[in-house]
Amino acid sequence: MEIVIVRDADEVGRVAALKIASVVQRDPEAVLGLATGSSPTGIYASLAARVAAGELDFSRASGFALDEYVGIPLEHPESYASVIERDVVVPLGMDASKVRVPDGRASDIEAAVVDYEQAIADAGGIDIQILGIGANGHIGFNEPTSSFASRTRIKTLAPQTRADNARFFDDPSQVPTHCLTQGLGTILDAHEVVLVAQGSAKASAVAGMVEGPLGAMCPGSALQLHRHATIVVDEAAASLLQLADYYRYTYANKPVWQRFE
Ligand code: GLP
Repeated sequence: MEIVIVRDADEVGRVAALKIASVVQRDPEAVLGLATGSSPTGIYASLAARVAAGELDFSRASGFALDEYVGIPLEHPESYASVIERDVVVPLGMDASKVRVPDGRASDIEAAVVDYEQAIADAGGIDIQILGIGANGHIGFNEPTSSFASRTRIKTLAPQTRADNARFFDDPSQVPTHCLTQGLGTILDAHEVVLVAQGSAKASAVAGMVEGPLGAMCPGSALQLHRHATIVVDEAAASLLQLADYYRYTYANKPVWQRFE
């Protein structure tokens, strides 16, 4: 794991976007794993600005959303299909036919999740998976006690996650109780992972993920098993990291050939 501690939320988006840009510049047909939520919005805004400036082109890239609610219509503004279309596909100029979201409305959920995993495999796997982390340590919608071997499947949202996401809905009771999410095993199969976190509300989850024991109570800790995970956090989200100074020192002394900014 590489831990990058930056000044503030804007810098988190800018630096993490450089990682994704480098993958797409290397391979214009790269397969992106797309997270929703507040955390990656700075990444998408930064990438969109570079697309608008003609510096980046996502038209040949493809994407797989990390998760989706079950029980709200596709056209609901907070379905992740809508969010991905609005916040990612349009501003980045992606080809909508190359971007998939798990089908939370499928009549046969079991078949839909198997199909989703197969589509990822058929695409050659995810080149870079963008992630945020929940206050309870979840990644995707893999709530605490999710299996480290899990694949895309239906999950029940934890009450804390429903409360956290209530801000996106008119009424807290409208937050769905279920979702489809890539599993921890699916996420671990991505060739590269970049996770972003901002603010003190994420500090405990970030510390558990980076420095805590590998454990079911912090699904993000599964990333300790990933060979190429980059964690970009602001000072507030890094505030409970015991080895923060070591991460700063390591980043400042990174060999030139390893740098992405
Ligand atoms: C959400 C999403 C996750 C996200 C996490 C944190 O509910 N399913 O992909 O990373 O919880 O959300 P946020 O970025 O809004 O804090």
